[in-house]
Amino acid sequence: MEGSLRFTELIRTEKGKERAKDKVMLKKDEVVCVTGGSGYIGSWLVRLLLDRGYTVHATVKDLKDERETKHLETFEGAETRLRLFQIDLLDYDSILAAVNGCAGVFHLASPCIVEQVHDPERELLEPAIKGTTNVLTAAKELGVRRVVVTSSVSAITPSHYWPADVVKGEDCWADVDYCKQNGFWYSVSKTLAEKAAWEFAKEKGLDVVVVNPGTVMGPILPPALNASMLMIFRLLQGCTDVYEDHFMGTVHVNDVALAHILVYENMSASGRHLCVEAISHFGDFAAKVAELYPEYNVPRLPKDTQPGLLRTKNAAKKLMDLGLQFIPMEQIIKDSIESLKSKGFIA
Ligand SMILES: NC(=O)c1ccc[n+]([C@@H]2O[C@H](COP(=O)([O-])OP(=O)(O)OC[C@H]3O[C@@H](n4cnc5c(N)ncnc54)[C@H](OP(=O)(O)O)[C@@H]3O)[C@@H](O)[C@H]2O)c1
Repeated sequence: MEGSLRFTELIRTEKGKERAKDKVMLKKDEVVCVTGGSGYIGSWLVRLLLDRGYTVHATVKDLKDERETKHLETFEGAETRLRLFQIDLLDYDSILAAVNGCAGVFHLASPCIVEQVHDPERELLEPAIKGTTNVLTAAKELGVRRVVVTSSVSAITPSHYWPADVVKGEDCWADVDYCKQNGFWYSVSKTLAEKAAWEFAKEKGLDVVVVNPGTVMGPILPPALNASMLMIFRLLQGCTDVYEDHFMGTVHVNDVALAHILVYENMSASGRHLCVEAISHFGDFAAKVAELYPEYNVPRLPKDTQPGLLRTKNAAKKLMDLGLQFIPMEQIIKDSIESLKSKGFIA
């Protein structure tokens, strides 16, 4: 690795109103692997890593599928510092090849199916859990310095009962039995995969840190819509079946990618990192979308159904302490909808 480390500043300005600044070390010539590099969050992470001078091994499911590869190849620096690898999360050798030569690994690849799960074991649990242990085993075998695992708020919040005056945080775990009984198979997959990661880290002595994003939205880089952007897309179409009586933590996709880099580069970062900008009831979120974009047929949904719940403003304090200044919810909504428009998903 080249000896000279320099600092770069990322300055975000939005019509002069918003100025988010964070200092991140630029580590030229370091090679890192991003599993799920073709996905919604993965593509953003690959782009930011290339911007910072990293060489990136990005994994895709099918190298012949241009919908997975083409947008990645347009990123600045991709020509010389991006290598694509085809992996299957259940094929250890394919993962070993992608991780070979890397100082760090960002493990994002995981099936994101939230509806119509027919065979939970095969569709979600096996690739999420076995995939995570395969990636960590390869990282350990190849002497990787640190692995960042992308978990979710879904591994933290779902549970049968929670006292109204107690804040849920990084010390909480989703209740797996409750999730199974209610068919929340995605939450089961994220919870068990994250638990498997922590067990592996403890038993084998591997440096693992975890990011737990909420509902990720913002500009879309790949050609297809992922599950979280599909949710806002359907809201704009007037679909009422998107409604869930729950609180969600919205977060901008750029901030999620940045959070991964911050916890990777700051060796003081440890444990889980909640990654949400705003906590809002789904009905309140829908009302905000309707207010900002009255031209769409956004359904009126029940608003905050548990107004007495204790609210926390700095759920993502660990990431804020590392320098992350979150893009506010209004901007997240605007960036998402403008991107859906410019990509032709909505008129
Ligand atoms: N979006 C959110 O709101 C959100 C919130 C919290 C956590 N997360 C987590 O963030 C990560 C990325 O999510 P995303 O929103 O970016 O979803 P996404 O666009 O669907 O990305 C998932 C990636 O994983 C890959 N993948 C899935 N199964 C695989 C398998 N068996 N073998 C190899 N690769 C496989 C996918 O490849 P293909 O595209 O080829 O299927 C895709 O590149 C996931 O771990 C997800 O659980 C997402």
